[in-house]
Amino acid sequence: MAYKLGEVILSRETISRRVKELADEIANDYGKNKPVVVVGILTGAAFFLTDIVRELPEDMDVRVDFMSVASYGDNTESSGVVRIFHDLKSSIEGKHVIVVEDIVDSGLTLSHLIGLLEGRHPASLKVCVLLDKYERRKTEVKVDYCGFRIPDKFVVGYGLDYAGKWRHLKDIKYVVEE
Ligand code: IMP
Repeated sequence: MAYKLGEVILSRETISRRVKELADEIANDYGKNKPVVVVGILTGAAFFLTDIVRELPEDMDVRVDFMSVASYGDNTESSGVVRIFHDLKSSIEGKHVIVVEDIVDSGLTLSHLIGLLEGRHPASLKVCVLLDKYERRKTEVKVDYCGFRIPDKFVVGYGLDYAGKWRHLKDIKYVVEE
């Protein structure tokens, strides 16, 4: 089946406003005396992460690291299998960690990752997601910072892809059948 871009669900302006609000919440929670490691999950969350960290105040102690995991093939259903392709560069033991993910759908990817990162004994671990497809949850995931709750429809743009495509869109759009 072929797919094409549908309507805009979240415009660049709406996203940008919400990203600033989330950054304010994070800045309030951590302040300038609590160093934080922001862990982005490649590839999708890289776009959201770079925007959100640049909204954090200059006097916050912020480090950035990335991990690459995969739970999706070329279709729109989670396989439930999470593979790690690229691990963090630095240890998170004793550190305050914020995991940044583009979207939580079934929750399988994040719950697996959280378990794995908790096992490395960070001082604290919080989760920040841009989008939450809450209706699709198969396993409970604690989301501390959430951009938007969205309906159960496939979306692309602002880092989110369909079969590797459309990550570069500034707005988030639905994908529809051609
Ligand atoms: P989960 O394990 O089912 O929660 O899936 C999370 C992952 O599924 C995300 O990191 C995305 O890569 C992918 N995903 C889920 N829904 C969408 C969507 O609507 N558009 C693009 N990717 C999605």
